[in-house]
Amino acid sequence: MRKVLILLIFLSLVTYIAYEGLIYFDRNFKYGRMRETPAVRPHEEAPMPMEEGVVPFHGGEATFKATNVEMLKSPFPLGEPAVIKQGKELYFTYCVHCHGRDYDGNSTVGQSFHPVPTDLKSQRVQALTEGLFFKEISYGIPNGRQPPLATTINIEDRWRIIAFVKSLGARQ
Ligand code: HEC
Repeated sequence: MRKVLILLIFLSLVTYIAYEGLIYFDRNFKYGRMRETPAVRPHEEAPMPMEEGVVPFHGGEATFKATNVEMLKSPFPLGEPAVIKQGKELYFTYCVHCHGRDYDGNSTVGQSFHPVPTDLKSQRVQALTEGLFFKEISYGIPNGRQPPLATTINIEDRWRIIAFVKSLGARQ
């Protein structure tokens, strides 16, 4: 019984010393406290001026989606070598796994499709108007298997890819 009592007293002493130590440390703490650091409270500052164009009122995806195929045109010339070159890089990022290095659909993923993805050098694809081509890669083909890539590839990059695919026909 005595032993227990001594142990209890000892433990409370240790706890008390630890507590006092912590308080001492706390009072003499050298670093800033969260409550002392500068903070901005709601509505304290004037709202930041919003630059024009941050919220688009014109152009953008919705306009492209709504425009009919015949009217849909690339914002830049598709025959430009610089555009085609950028398009090639983008093709090898976004399309190659399905349409392949030789554009014939024989590729890592393409093989698992039956039939394989359309040959991009084919007459059918080369004859596509740019508007229809844009719609197909952006929003998919109704009842087809081309994936809609509008949320994956930005608008300009899609046109660049089209420029590149179209250039495949010219080189044949
Ligand atoms: C997930 C695989 C996949 C990816 C990624 C893909 N395609 Fe396809 N694509 C297909 C398949 C499958 C078809 C065949 C569609 C069908 O027969 O329904 C196709 C068809 C097409 C066609 C033919 C459309 C037509 O009217 O016949 C074009 C053009 C095309 N893809 C271009 C592209 C381009 C450009 C990219 C890259 C931006 C791309 N595809 C990315 C699988 C893919």
